[in-house]
Amino acid sequence: MQYVKIAKVEEFEKLRFKKIKLLARNVAIFKDPDGTFFATEISCKHQNWDLTTGTFKGDIVTCPRHQWVYNIRTGQCLTHDSTRLRKYGLKVEGEEIFITLTPIED
Ligand code: FES
Repeated sequence: MQYVKIAKVEEFEKLRFKKIKLLARNVAIFKDPDGTFFATEISCKHQNWDLTTGTFKGDIVTCPRHQWVYNIRTGQCLTHDSTRLRKYGLKVEGEEIFITLTPIED
């Protein structure tokens, strides 16, 4: 699996997430309160709305456009369980964060 450097840990001192473009897909890197990181596609599966503009309650986000609900950590859509957001692999080495170029689940 190929990883590319995408961010620095220090960027998340005051951020919960950072949006990036990865091979034309909208992805966000999230930092949990416990300090762990994960990466998830952030285009809603309904009509591609940016889910980072939605309402978050923990790992659950509601799309502001038509209220589809997702678990942003697992990618699972809770409104239509036949669809899910793509997940990307992340690794932290020192102060650098690396992401897989392709989804780890598709
Ligand atoms: S675009 Fe997200 S629910 Fe319709």
